[in-house]
Amino acid sequence: MATTQSQSSKSPLTKDGRASARPNDAVSDLMADHRTVEDLFKQYEKSKSDDAKKQSIAQQIIAELRVHMVLEEEIFYPESRPFVDEQDTVNEAEVEHASAKDLMKQIEAMSPSDDYYDAKVKVLSEMIDHHVEEEETEYFPEVRRSDMDLKAVGEKMRTRKAELKTRPN
Ligand SMILES: [Fe+2]
Ligand SMILES: [Fe+2]
Repeated sequence: MATTQSQSSKSPLTKDGRASARPNDAVSDLMADHRTVEDLFKQYEKSKSDDAKKQSIAQQIIAELRVHMVLEEEIFYPESRPFVDEQDTVNEAEVEHASAKDLMKQIEAMSPSDDYYDAKVKVLSEMIDHHVEEEETEYFPEVRRSDMDLKAVGEKMRTRKAELKTRPN
C-alpha cells in the first residue's frame, strides 16, 4: 500500500513554523476557526465606509470568537494542560482570552459611528493575531508532539460546537 506524503512527514510544523493542518483533529479544527476569524477581520477592514456592514461583520467576529473560546476553555485547554511542559503557556492563553472578551463586550455596547469603534476592532484584531500566533507556533506544536488524543478531543469539540451554534451559552 502506498503511503501518502503527509504520512511520511514527521514534522509537526510547516515552513513558517506553524502547526500543520491535519484533518479531523482538535488542532486542525481550531486552526480552521482562526482562519475564519482572520478572514472576517480582513472583510471589516474593507468595509470602513459602511456602518451597517461594519457592525454586522464585528458581530460575526465576536460570535465566532465566543464559540471558539468556549471550546478552548471548556475542552481544549483543560484536556491539553497535562501534555504541556510550561503551565504558563496555557495560563497566558486564558488571560489573553479574558482581555479579548473584555474588548468584545465594549465593542458590542458601541455603535459603529462612535469615534473609537474602528480603533477597538483594530486592537481586538491585533490581540487575536498575537494570541493565534502563540497558539500555532508554540502551544499547538507542543501538543502535537505529545501523546494527547487529538482526534477524540476534536470529536468532543465538534459536538459542543454544534450545541453552541444552535443554542449559545
Ligand atoms: Fe484559538
Ligand atoms: Fe485561544
